[in-house]
Amino acid sequence: MTRDKLTAYIHTWGCQMNVRDSEHIKGILKGEGYDISDTPDGASLVVLNTCSIREKAEQKFLSELGRLSLQKKKHPELKIAVSGCIAQQQGRALLKSHPSVDFSFGPQNIFNLKEFLYDEKRTAFTKENTGETEEIHHTQLSAHRDNDLRAWVNIMYGCNNYCSYCVVPYTRGRERSRSYENIIAEVRDLADKGYKEISLLGQNVNSYSGGCTFPELLTMICGIGGILRIRFITSHPKDLTAELAITMGKSAKICNHIHLPVQSGSTNVLNRMNRKYTFEEYFDKILILRKHVPDIAITTDIIAGFPAETDSDHYETVRALKEIEFDGIFAFKYSQRPHTKAADMEHQLSESIKSQRLAEILTVSDMITERKNKVLEGKCFEVLTEGINADNRWFGRTTTNKIVNFSPDEHTERGRVVMVKVIEGFKHSLEGQLVV
Ligand code: 5AD
Ligand code: SF4
Repeated sequence: MTRDKLTAYIHTWGCQMNVRDSEHIKGILKGEGYDISDTPDGASLVVLNTCSIREKAEQKFLSELGRLSLQKKKHPELKIAVSGCIAQQQGRALLKSHPSVDFSFGPQNIFNLKEFLYDEKRTAFTKENTGETEEIHHTQLSAHRDNDLRAWVNIMYGCNNYCSYCVVPYTRGRERSRSYENIIAEVRDLADKGYKEISLLGQNVNSYSGGCTFPELLTMICGIGGILRIRFITSHPKDLTAELAITMGKSAKICNHIHLPVQSGSTNVLNRMNRKYTFEEYFDKILILRKHVPDIAITTDIIAGFPAETDSDHYETVRALKEIEFDGIFAFKYSQRPHTKAADMEHQLSESIKSQRLAEILTVSDMITERKNKVLEGKCFEVLTEGINADNRWFGRTTTNKIVNFSPDEHTERGRVVMVKVIEGFKHSLEGQLVV
C-alpha cells in the first residue's frame, strides 16, 4: 500500500493563515524528500492542520482523525501528525486520547517541523514563538505555494486583541510583525517568479509594526513591478485609519475590497466582545472608506447569538446589515470556546435561538448581496483571469473580489487582466462576457 517514495498528505481546515501554514509545512516536507499527495491513501505521513475557532471545525477534525486511525490499524507504518490551533491547545491531551497520533505541533512551531519528523518520542510541541524562527524560515527554507498566480504573504503573526470569544491569541501567540525589508524581498522574488497577485496576511494588518505603518508598507509594495494586484486580510476596525483609505484610493494596484469584521451591530454586544469600538465608530470608518474609494466592496464577519444578546441587540445587527449593505458576509453561530472570557459569561443562548438569528441574518444579507450584484449588470470590469472552472468555463476576479465566469476567446490566457461586461449578477458570482 505504501509507495516506495515518502509521500505526505496535508489536510487543512480553517482560515487563510492555516492555508499559508500548510504551504509552509509542504515546503519543509518537500525539503525532506517527501512528495506531496492530494489523497491520504498510500501516504507515509498525514498532517492534519486543524482549526479551533468554532466547535464544528473541531468535530470535523475528530471524525477525520477517527477514519485515519482505522487506516493506521491496517497500515501501522502510517505516521499521523496534528498541527494548527487544536494542536496548540490540546496537543498533549490528543496524544493521550489518540494513540494513533505520532506527534503534534502548534502554529508557532511549524518552522521546527524538520526536527520533529525525526524525533522518536511522541511529543506535543507547543513552544511560544518570538518571531525569530519565522523570519529565518522566510529567508532560508524552501517555500511551497499551491497557486502560481496568487500568493499569500505573511506580514505578521499572532494577535493581541483578546476578543472575548476568540481562541486565536491563545493559539497563535502575541502579535509579531515581520520586517518590511523581508516582506519586500519576498514580494520581489514572487514578482520575478511570475506571480501577479499577492495577499498580505495578518490577524490585524492595521496594527502592523515592522518598521513602517501598514499603508506605508502597501505603498512600497505598489512600487514592485510585475505585481498587478495587492490584497490584504484581516483588518480590525479599531486600528483602521484614514491613511489606509487614502492609500487605497490612490493606488490602482491595491484592490477595491476590504474585509472588515463588524461582529455585531449592537454597541452593548461589541463592548462585551471586547472589540474596542462602538457601532457608530465602525459606521464612520465605512464612510471614510467609501469617501476615498467610492466603488469599494466591503465584506464582514458576524457572530449570531453571543452570550446575553437580546432580541433588540440582534435587530441592531439586522439594521446594520441594511444600513451598510455589505457585498458579502461570513456569519456564524456563537461557539463557546475553552479558555475564552465569553465561555464563562452568563446567559449562554440556546442552539435554537442562535440558529434562528443566524438564518435571519443570512436571509437579509443574501438579498442585499444579490441586489448589489444585479446593479452591476451591463457594467464593465477588469478581471484577472485565473483558469477554467468545474463547468469548463473561464473564471477570474474583479478587484472587488467578485468571481466572474465567462466564455474565453482564442487569446484568453491565465494571469491576464481582461475587460468583462457583466451580463447577470447572482448571489455568489457574476456571469460575464469578454469585451474586445
Ligand atoms: N464563535 C463564532 N464565531 C467566531 N469567530 C471567532 N471566534 C468565534 C466563536 N467563538 C468568527 C469571528 C471572526 C471569524 C474569523 O470567526 O467572526 O471574525
Ligand atoms: Fe480573534 Fe479578535 Fe484577534 Fe480577530 S482580532 S484573531 S477575532 S482575538
